[in-house]
Amino acid sequence: MKIGVPKETAVNERRVALTPDVTGRLVKSGLTVLVERGAGAAASFGDEAYRAAGAALAANAAELFAQSDIVLKVQPPSADEIRLCREGGALVALFQPSAEREAVSQLAARKVTAFSLALLPRITRAQAMDVLSSQATVAGYKAVLIAAAATGRFLPMLVTAAGTLPPARVLVLGAGVAGLQAIATARRLGSVVSAFDVRPVVKEQVESLGARFLALEIGEQGEGTGGYAKQLSEETHRRELAFIAQAVKDADIVITTAAIPGKRAPILITNDAVAGMKQGSVIVDLAVETGGNCEAAQPGADVVRNGVLILGPLNLPSTLPVHASQMYARNISSFVALLVKDGALRLDFEDEIVRDTCVTHAGEVRKT
Ligand code: NAI
Repeated sequence: MKIGVPKETAVNERRVALTPDVTGRLVKSGLTVLVERGAGAAASFGDEAYRAAGAALAANAAELFAQSDIVLKVQPPSADEIRLCREGGALVALFQPSAEREAVSQLAARKVTAFSLALLPRITRAQAMDVLSSQATVAGYKAVLIAAAATGRFLPMLVTAAGTLPPARVLVLGAGVAGLQAIATARRLGSVVSAFDVRPVVKEQVESLGARFLALEIGEQGEGTGGYAKQLSEETHRRELAFIAQAVKDADIVITTAAIPGKRAPILITNDAVAGMKQGSVIVDLAVETGGNCEAAQPGADVVRNGVLILGPLNLPSTLPVHASQMYARNISSFVALLVKDGALRLDFEDEIVRDTCVTHAGEVRKT
């Protein structure tokens, strides 16, 4: 059973699906690991480290794909990579099938058994495989750092001979995985943090991180199934927008992370709300890939509106490639353990994790 790790080819992708450390564990468990030369270079993992961990090196992608039974990737496979896939082979990556329709039909045509880790059910047994959470942790942390670099203010309070400087006020909208990490990071940097979420159950978690939970009596259940939020009614959403428009007036930095699975991200900060904000304040919209929480945010671009800087960063996990890859590698190796039994690929479609994540199998598209 050979596991292959190609070099990621997407623009600006610095992560790698397996680190030398995790490679070593897989090799010890009896699997053969093949790594494309240079695959870990952008994440500071050299070929020698993989070799020392027991991996073999492939000279190029063609060699790697031709020899691998399961290919492990971060980004969805490109058309060229799918052409290189072995018919009947398996591939695991992180992508939304609905956003990769062309790749999905090519994978099916090539009879590749493809899995997407974006489809993992959020159940306890899948926690060790949860790449969305591990990568969102990176995004939440990095969002605060880029906001700190962009603001013209200190984050902590400073008492100096030149006077006392107040701490920055940070507001975090959406207190899921990314939001809680943003709160923790902003607190560590000394800012005064408040946060809002439609799920009242997160109040305690927000407060345990030393932040203030902004309570809005929404008069309906903000929590849907599986611990996720649900879409609010129009009336409640209107009240939420008015509430947030007041809250952002005081903020120096706003980090937005609100998401509803399978839906466009809810708009939380309208252009009118931005007009009410202080000049020089900074918004980082993490939900920009799924439509954005801030009406004015643009994917991958910096927008200035009424003196407010609005950032819509893409693929923040790639900007912290060492630890993002480390977490990704641990997650994906737990997933591989589910697919491989006694050194061979054994797919148990009775298992909800296997069933929910399998996008193509035996020439069929199973998830769209
Ligand atoms: P999550 O599902 O753990 O958290 C989302 C939170 O938003 C939940 O707590 C939910 O209750 C809350 N929420 C939903 N609707 C709301 C509303 N109307 N008002 C207030 N809160 C609301 O999601 P996670 O993993 O924390 O990801 C957050 C966002 O970050 C997602 O949009 C994700 O795609 C994005 N992300 C962006 C990255 C980047 O580089 N730009 C990288 C990784 C994640």
